[in-house]
Amino acid sequence: MFQYLNLPTGWSLFFLVLSTTLLVLWFFFLRGPKSIHNDASLPPLPSPDPALTASLLSKLRGLPEDWELFDDPLIREKALTSMVEKNGKTFLMYCQGDVKNALGASPVIATADPKLVKEIFLKKTHTLRRPRRMLLAQHLPGLDGVLFQDGPKWERHSRTLKPVFHAKNFSQFTNEIRREAAKHVELWSSINEKSPLSVHHMGGGQISTLSSLRELGTSVALHVGYGIDPSCEEGAALRVALDGYDEKKRFRAAGTNICLLIHALFLVWMDAKRIRNVVAKIVKRIQMEEKEEKVEEKEKKEEEGQGKRREDEQQQQQQEVTATPPAAPPAPPAAPAAPVVKPLSWIKQMVHAKFSVQELSNEVGHLHHAHKAIAYMTSFALYELGKHPEWQKNIRNEFSTVLLNGRPPEKTDLIHLKICTSVWKETLRMHPISLGVIREVGADITTKLNGGEEEVTIPKGTMISVLLYALHMDKDSWTSPELYNPQRWMDSGNQSAQSTFSDRGIREAFVPFLDGKRQCEGRFLAELEFIIFMWSILKEHDVVVPNDYIFRIGPDFFPDAATPIPIKLKKRIKVQ
Ligand code: HEM
Repeated sequence: MFQYLNLPTGWSLFFLVLSTTLLVLWFFFLRGPKSIHNDASLPPLPSPDPALTASLLSKLRGLPEDWELFDDPLIREKALTSMVEKNGKTFLMYCQGDVKNALGASPVIATADPKLVKEIFLKKTHTLRRPRRMLLAQHLPGLDGVLFQDGPKWERHSRTLKPVFHAKNFSQFTNEIRREAAKHVELWSSINEKSPLSVHHMGGGQISTLSSLRELGTSVALHVGYGIDPSCEEGAALRVALDGYDEKKRFRAAGTNICLLIHALFLVWMDAKRIRNVVAKIVKRIQMEEKEEKVEEKEKKEEEGQGKRREDEQQQQQQEVTATPPAAPPAPPAAPAAPVVKPLSWIKQMVHAKFSVQELSNEVGHLHHAHKAIAYMTSFALYELGKHPEWQKNIRNEFSTVLLNGRPPEKTDLIHLKICTSVWKETLRMHPISLGVIREVGADITTKLNGGEEEVTIPKGTMISVLLYALHMDKDSWTSPELYNPQRWMDSGNQSAQSTFSDRGIREAFVPFLDGKRQCEGRFLAELEFIIFMWSILKEHDVVVPNDYIFRIGPDFFPDAATPIPIKLKKRIKVQ
């Protein structure tokens, strides 16, 4: 094998020993003690029926050279819509590079057919089971989180984390989100050409939106998700550990060189371990605090009981000594105290559900990863607003009409903020966080190919790439889909599209958060964070994107801007 890898024998032996040691370390230390729960994933589906697959493949169009357009940075994601136009809404996609590495196959069956997508997302048989490719991520250090799980394991994780995602819970943090956003906006507005380079400043007075918004996102996640003040020592340590974990960057830097890949795996393992060490301390602190709280509560109850007994005894003694006066009217019952709603946090939820430190730290890292989506979407929105200043004005006017006396937005205001939420939805439509997601169909699907009469069967077990970007650009569902036009949401004849909730509208081929049982858990939190940030920035500033900036994305299905999106803030002159 080592001859095949072209390595000199000394090195071969070294790497053999190193990789075996790493494997042993990983098995005994990183995976941690086995959970006491039934943490099985669903059994994998059998391979798809070869005859049905052969018949399907013979009917689908698509050529390897179609992918060349995706490799062209000037065209990139638009290549996916070209493929749909050329080959039909369900076709064979011969992906290459990072996309092929992520999907693990080429060609794959890809679809941007709204009807088929709806069936895949909404029917539990197709959506509850994770594709084998996604399940693999569970075995990489630090990646075993809810997105990559299924079966009883997913149910337990999802059930435990869900209450934190409930609007009633996270709305309590509106002030914290606003404070963190205000800090960032203040910092941004202080940046000028002479400011030193930093995570916020990319030179020339230009603000580096994504890296700065990611920092903001981590602060919000620490407050809202983990219940930790980002400015305390614990918060700072967790931030450093979370920001240090980027498995994609590590593996991408290693390329295909086996030695570098082993090295990258080791580094990822170290990064995950750093998160685990911090989380272990937090868990210990929480357990101690809760133990103390319990003791205090018990003591308080005992004291109250003793006090009551003493009072009763005194009353009895008084009654015996004094002549019985006429009975006083009974005191009106005290008004019930308003229940104190304690905010929930993912960490506390998992501690109460008896997750091991290993499970807990994996999930902490994983949720931080998922939360990053909001930073990407907000930076895309700032780019679009910079290019379409009329929408900045529209949002500002709406804020001053709906939020009287300049008060900040709350979750309950969202329903009235149609313009701001339409900007959000239009940004999600044009810049979905992932150009495509994968699913494995759990039962044979019979569908008509590309609107024609010919029926085909997609056999059980087939992996399908659902092309969100191409779906959001579907010419049969959208008028001029290539144009950024938030007005389309307000003018839509469809009630659910007009709603301010961005998870609505599957009929319009709009699924930025997917749909059904495995849709995004964080969508409502993301919406609130976005609105608060827009309010924080636009009330006193204009956002400007330099004229010479050309927006392009990198060659990945999770698209980052190929060069960071720069913006400048212009302080608005207050009208007296
Ligand atoms: C604009 C922002 C966001 C977008 C566009 C987005 C999009 C998505 C999408 C497309 C998925 C499904 C991925 C798949 O199944 O292949 C997903 C899943 C998920 N997202 Fe988000 N997301 C956003 C923000 C957030 C935030 C702020 C959180 C909070 C931590 C979050 C937590 C999750 C979780 C936990 C899942 C897994 C759900 C499951 O599989 O049961 N997301 N998200």
